[in-house]
Amino acid sequence: MKEYKLIDFKKNSDGRGFLIALEEDRDIPFKIKRVYYIYDTPMDVVRGRHAHRKLQQVIICLKGSCDFSLDNGEEKILVHLDKPDIGLYIGNNIWREFTNFSSDCVIMVLASEHYNDKDYIRDYKVFLKYLHKND
Ligand code: TYD
Repeated sequence: MKEYKLIDFKKNSDGRGFLIALEEDRDIPFKIKRVYYIYDTPMDVVRGRHAHRKLQQVIICLKGSCDFSLDNGEEKILVHLDKPDIGLYIGNNIWREFTNFSSDCVIMVLASEHYNDKDYIRDYKVFLKYLHKND
């Protein structure tokens, strides 16, 4: 599935712990217009369950762990995130569901666009139709 990738961030470590810096158009492959974070998510909750028409995101699990199911309409993969030095890049047109949040999980999301409700596709059938709109 080409619309996602894992990005290894450069860790700065000098005996005082770790520091990771993320710069737009360098470590992050787009201009960062928005940052949000998710925490205190109950274990049995499913977040996401949508796709985006345009938005690109990089998701970083700063603490704890959780699972990301990604679906491009043809194949589905599961990505487990549990390290703050890995970013999960998700392009547009990917159906995503986030599950299995550990109780200490903190997820930070860097996004390429401001929040725009119109960019969301929240119905899976509409998502599949949208993918095949030019067939
Ligand atoms: P929602 O899209 O349901 O989160 P998730 O995709 O993780 O399931 O967002 C939850 C609420 O937060 C919803 O009322 C919209 C609001 N929200 C913002 O105001 N700004 C944002 O950048 C995001 C992602 C959500």
